[in-house]
Amino acid sequence: MCGIVGYLGHRDCSDVLVDTLSNLEYRGYDSAGIAVFDAQNTIQTVKAQGKLQNLRNKLEKNGRPEGHIGIGHTRWATHGEPSDINSHPHSAPRVTIVHNGIIENYQELKEFLIGEGRTFLSETDTEVVAQLLDYYYDGNPLTTIDRVMGEVSGSFALGIMFMDFPDRIYAVRRESPLIVGVADGETFIASDVTAILQYTKNYYLLEHDEIATLTKDSISFVDKRLVPIEKELKVADWDKEAAQKGGYAHFMIKEINEQPNAIMTTVNPRIKDGLPNLEECGLTLEMIREFKSITVVACGTAMHAGLVGKYVIEGIARVPVTVDIASEFRYRNPIIGEGDLVIIISQSGETADSLAALRLAKQRGAKVLAIVNAKGSSIAREADMVIYTLAGPEIAVASTKAYITQISVMYLFAFELALAKDTVSVAECKRLTKALQQMPEAVQYVIDTVDETCKFVGSQLITAESLLYIGRGLDYALSMEGSLKLKEVSYIHSESYAAGELKHGTISLIDDDMPVIAVATQSDLMEKTISNVVEVKSRGAKVILVCTDACAAKIKDGIADYMITIPHTDELLMPITAVVPLQILAYYTSINRGANPDQPKNLAKSVTVE
Ligand code: G6P
Repeated sequence: MCGIVGYLGHRDCSDVLVDTLSNLEYRGYDSAGIAVFDAQNTIQTVKAQGKLQNLRNKLEKNGRPEGHIGIGHTRWATHGEPSDINSHPHSAPRVTIVHNGIIENYQELKEFLIGEGRTFLSETDTEVVAQLLDYYYDGNPLTTIDRVMGEVSGSFALGIMFMDFPDRIYAVRRESPLIVGVADGETFIASDVTAILQYTKNYYLLEHDEIATLTKDSISFVDKRLVPIEKELKVADWDKEAAQKGGYAHFMIKEINEQPNAIMTTVNPRIKDGLPNLEECGLTLEMIREFKSITVVACGTAMHAGLVGKYVIEGIARVPVTVDIASEFRYRNPIIGEGDLVIIISQSGETADSLAALRLAKQRGAKVLAIVNAKGSSIAREADMVIYTLAGPEIAVASTKAYITQISVMYLFAFELALAKDTVSVAECKRLTKALQQMPEAVQYVIDTVDETCKFVGSQLITAESLLYIGRGLDYALSMEGSLKLKEVSYIHSESYAAGELKHGTISLIDDDMPVIAVATQSDLMEKTISNVVEVKSRGAKVILVCTDACAAKIKDGIADYMITIPHTDELLMPITAVVPLQILAYYTSINRGANPDQPKNLAKSVTVE
């Protein structure tokens, strides 16, 4: 989604803005722009459709605005196509702004402003806010912003420059995230802290409807009644290196390689005396024993992590689990209330639908546990309990290390629940916990051994137009994530099917143009999955089989066209290692097709609007 930055200090502002915007590229965007106060205190705006490089080229060719205070934006189009005109910043005579979010009542506000003689250049909802700020401008930016906040509905994070106040930037948010950074003689605004890590780790989290006023040497905050407030200074615990590629060609492959460490960092601190211990987040054995039902709600990859969680929890703790897509949950009047547990999984902690689902669950009296990667994000702050996945910043749009840590947390939770429910013995729980702690090593081994095969198989998929992933049980839950990964980064259409469901329709699609990726890591289901493999192969499909070495030893040669084998570990934990070849395969297929796996077209890392 859109990214916002702002800078005040001694450095060349255009440089800092483009630099910090490049750190937000991962959020997904289709145009970019900056606006800077020049030496004459007029605002110079430069915008360009497409990648940041287009903006850089334009700045190079036409000259950069010279100055030390300015705002910048990467736009993910919602209202109006990607174009120079629709790009941010947007201006009215006395105001220039950047915006992330959606102004829901922009149409009626626009009609009102047109009636008042205002004209518009773009099709965006953002320009309406710029015009409205200008319309209500009373010489006092704070009262003007406050007035406008009372008129607009929807979600927004805004960076605002008033022509009359060339030494400052104003920032305000409702729903959409925004932070305010501070260094010595420099201040910043940004959609998230990774944007400014190379300059400072110190920042404030702006809360809903708070307004920040920044000069290069000062930051002040007011609440929605315009009463001054003090805010706690936070220190990011992510290093700037964590948000850089560090020698890898892409963030996606870097983050795949970071998975062993991410699992270790996430799992180890939650183990006490050989057993999972989630008390740090407020989850005691007594509490989890009492929950009447468990519902996992999330979007995208995080929802797939919930599906693995369902199989694991139901498998060992014998507690029924519902998994729901957040955008469905929030509008289907879910049967949730007191005594129920709702688990919200989210990497960013800002996904609009997941946040709305959280609020709905709380409103109905359910307890909400959030499994979140971004510290201090909205979902983390609003949940009753939080378990952080300690994956570090995930920059590639396609989630990899966040997923692996999300499922690792689901395992910890399932083991603890099983203990609480007495469905496993302490000894068995200790054995499973130990096996989970050995996963970083197993994942490292898989990364080291499957790379070449995945590269080769990826090269065989470049001409495919459509693919099927099949699996049973945990392998089915996992293949949903494998399929999503491939379609996200390679743009090949792909679906995941429960292998046993193929005969009920989908097998009619199988021919020699439809490769099938079968996942078989569960020994009790292996024979059944292999029968499905034989069925699709005899109808012409090229089959890529991802299976354990134990499975590979049992099947006949020639059953699959390509085999990607991984070591057999505890079967319950197989998704942790088996996801790795699926991720690497998606990565190489993307590259072989000339795509950029880090920034897939049309996708955004953090979906902060509905
Ligand atoms: C977007 C991202 C996905 C992510 C999903 C949920 O679609 O591109 O990678 O899985 O949002 O995001 P969250 O931050 O809530 O995990």
